[in-house]
Amino acid sequence: MTTLGMPQAYVSGWKGFYRREFAVNEHVLVPRPETEHLIEDALEFMHATARRRVLDVGTGSGAIACTIASELFDAIVTATDVSIRALAVAAKNAARLGVGGRCTFALADIAPADNERYDVIVANLPYIPSADVPQKPDPVGFEPRVATDGGADGLELYRKLLAVAPRLACAGALVLMEAAPPTMPGLRALANEAFPQAAITVHRDYAGLERYVRVAA
Ligand SMILES: C[S@@+](CC[C@H](N)C(=O)[O-])C[C@H]1O[C@@H](n2cnc3c(N)ncnc32)[C@H](O)[C@@H]1O
Repeated sequence: MTTLGMPQAYVSGWKGFYRREFAVNEHVLVPRPETEHLIEDALEFMHATARRRVLDVGTGSGAIACTIASELFDAIVTATDVSIRALAVAAKNAARLGVGGRCTFALADIAPADNERYDVIVANLPYIPSADVPQKPDPVGFEPRVATDGGADGLELYRKLLAVAPRLACAGALVLMEAAPPTMPGLRALANEAFPQAAITVHRDYAGLERYVRVAA
């Protein structure tokens, strides 16, 4: 049944992202074109450095994890989520795209409980301040709250990630974090606290809005 405002991707069950089709349902965020900027950045870094171990934090449909694994045949990706239903969607997308053997999907709060270190950490965690999360019939109101609600200031999940990111990142790692333009100064400051020696830059999306923080650790 179609409901007024429901994202078209939930009606069709599919969403295009970086040259591939991803199966989606109401348990995952609909992948956004803005996130393709992080893919471009990660791939450029991986091509230039031959680094291949990737952590995708908050994988949802698996759009980031599966795209990187599909674009680079020797990339090894670990992807986490707190939603078991989202992980099921991600694992199916990985299998269908033929990258299931190089993607590990883990039910975890931010990071798996192991001592792995990663060359690239990519995160598109929930970043809308709780009070601003849209309600139905806004299309975002149909997406899972766990995928959109970033806590009081929109940065709760990024605080959690940046508390552990220095121990997850190899020397010389790349950390990419997508967020909303108003939260960008706060996210940049948090990144600077976690990685005081790193080169930290803010990058814009297709609309010219500040969209992600890049940490060259
Ligand atoms: C904004 S969605 C992004 C999904 C996907 N990465 C993308 O770009 O389309 C955020 C995802 O983070 C997950 N998430 C929320 N809190 C988390 C946590 N503490 N640890 C890991 N994942 C979390 C949500 O379940 C959701 O799938």
